[in-house]
Amino acid sequence: MSKYHTYLQEAVSAARIAGRYQKYRFSSVLNVEMKGDKDLVTEVDKESERLIVAHLLSRFPDHDIVAEESVYPQNGSPFRWIIDPVDGTTNYAHGFPWFCASIGLEREGELVAGVIYNPVYDELFTASKGGGAFLNGVRLSVSDRSPLKNSLLGTGFPYDCATDPATNFDNFMAFQKSARGIRRAGAAALDLAYVAAGRLDGFWELKLKPWDVAAGVLLVREAGGVVTTFDGSPYDIFTDRVVASNGLIHDEMVGMLAAVADGAFQHGK
Ligand code: IPD
Ligand code: CA
Ligand code: CA
Repeated sequence: MSKYHTYLQEAVSAARIAGRYQKYRFSSVLNVEMKGDKDLVTEVDKESERLIVAHLLSRFPDHDIVAEESVYPQNGSPFRWIIDPVDGTTNYAHGFPWFCASIGLEREGELVAGVIYNPVYDELFTASKGGGAFLNGVRLSVSDRSPLKNSLLGTGFPYDCATDPATNFDNFMAFQKSARGIRRAGAAALDLAYVAAGRLDGFWELKLKPWDVAAGVLLVREAGGVVTTFDGSPYDIFTDRVVASNGLIHDEMVGMLAAVADGAFQHGK
């Protein structure tokens, strides 16, 4: 049994509590506020976060919390929970059933446990450092598909894509031409879980936040995949550019991102 088993079990309980609530409220009339031009927050995001944080702090009162919807005091604990209460908020607010709760745990800055729960499919993705990655208790491994031209990728676009030039549009066009296909499903945590499960062969995105990726990055690593920044260098969750893959197509993905950045990939050529 993993030495992080107890933490993982409590994260699972918290994710299930939030997921049950998200499913119950799905399709009901919601209070929705705007955080930016396109960036929504609903009452379900806030209540899900409250439920998750209350559960974790009831078990681990000394642990630190970083979560999307509120700022929490940092006590200098070696343990820090990193929480996206609803990943896929735009989907949720529009009644598009693709969202999850995502909970990661760092110990002294190292990811050691992660849970992603999709309550619509009742799919629970779990990972612990050195203990493997699992979907509903069944061990996961990344796909063995290569090269890039045979691969299915996931990505997303930043909320400020109408105002900031770093949009991901050029990368999207380049990969759409060079890979078998791309899915933009709207929940980065599930994209990463799907790389871990071998349902996607690779994923890249920019301007993600630690709570979008904490659990998913550990899942990919524990399923045998590779996670780096866009230039192939080591990734940590406070870096805002991420490439995750089955490993086999990683160099091709990093090479394509470099080619786009250099302007070497010309659309229409
Ligand atoms: C968003 C989703 C989306 C990604 C955005 C994220 P949210 O998180 O993960 O897939 O493209 O960049 O911000 O706002 O639904 O928690
Ligand atoms: Ca998110
Ligand atoms: Ca969110």
